[in-house]
Amino acid sequence: MSGIILAIESSCDETSASVVSHGNVLSNIVSTQEVHQKYGGVVPELASRAHQKNILPVVSEALKEAKIEKSDLDAVAFTKGPGLLGALLVGASFAKGMAMSLDIPLIGVNHMQAHILAHFIDDPKPQFPFLCLTVSGGHTQLVVVKSPLEMEVVGETIDDAVGEAFDKTAKIMGLDYPGGPLIDKYAKDGDPLKFEFPNVNIPDYNFSFSGIKTAFLNFMRKESQKNENFIEENKADICASIQHTLIKILMKKLIKASKELNIKEIGIAGGVSANSSLRNTILEEGKKRGWNVFIPEFEHCTDNAAMIAMAAHYQFEGNDFEALSTSPNPRMKFTGTNE
Ligand code: KG4
Ligand code: ZN
Repeated sequence: MSGIILAIESSCDETSASVVSHGNVLSNIVSTQEVHQKYGGVVPELASRAHQKNILPVVSEALKEAKIEKSDLDAVAFTKGPGLLGALLVGASFAKGMAMSLDIPLIGVNHMQAHILAHFIDDPKPQFPFLCLTVSGGHTQLVVVKSPLEMEVVGETIDDAVGEAFDKTAKIMGLDYPGGPLIDKYAKDGDPLKFEFPNVNIPDYNFSFSGIKTAFLNFMRKESQKNENFIEENKADICASIQHTLIKILMKKLIKASKELNIKEIGIAGGVSANSSLRNTILEEGKKRGWNVFIPEFEHCTDNAAMIAMAAHYQFEGNDFEALSTSPNPRMKFTGTNE
């Protein structure tokens, strides 16, 4: 059985709502909070306040665009975790209130699982099993996806996430938050081989990005001491070189896992999968290796409620509901199994 579900995403700095009907996304409204830009990162207290302010208009707009009345809804879903506690609480409380007043079930979604299920919003959809590289601001994981609700995390970062590496290196360069999209933009005019940064070797399918961040900081300090305009004069080359290094680390493990696990259905998910060079590299590599590559639409890569709605759709079919007494879990693990 399936139905019409309203989904809410409020884990970080996007307030988003989406309506899905029998697996088809009817609307996806995303309001990005700009208040954090000048602070060089997301300020949790400001995020909670902005969610509180945005949530009602965003939900109303999502229902209006989908041409759905509240009384048509069969369930309401929210991001249960991982994320910022105060931010998650806004979405969870709102969803609970709606579920209670409409007397419909409540669905709690794992944000990381939802990033992967963004692959099922648009066509063509991957076949099972597929191998997904999830790259976001908080996570870097390699996941074998056996079915919509059956996944196995085979590798992950042992320290920073790759999105964090993008954002922190951008911050060192004096760029605004979030730095990932800016590095992507400036890198387009730069030489990816101009500067070299160390590529730490981590066993299995795991990743590490904290060493590269430190090496980058030391390099920038050293060069800026010699020439105070170093960053400004070499902006494009620095961005292209650091981006190239980060993508090389990701690709190495993705290729290894694909070969050893013998999976050629390959997907990428999460905010960093919006990166144009990562998208191109994976497509080119895929051509060479006979992969079927799946990259979600740009707006389904960064945080959005359509992916939460898609996950909720499958959970609804699997009768996976939450009690009204539930609370969000900021450190919710994603191991692949839906316990
Ligand atoms: O998935 P997401 O929207 O939020 C989390 O769940 O963390 O990912 C946000 C991350 C940020 O680190 C941001 O800098 C990065 O995705 N990002 C990018 C690009 N667009 C977003 N990184 C590199 N290139 C981009 N074009
Ligand atoms: Zn995310």
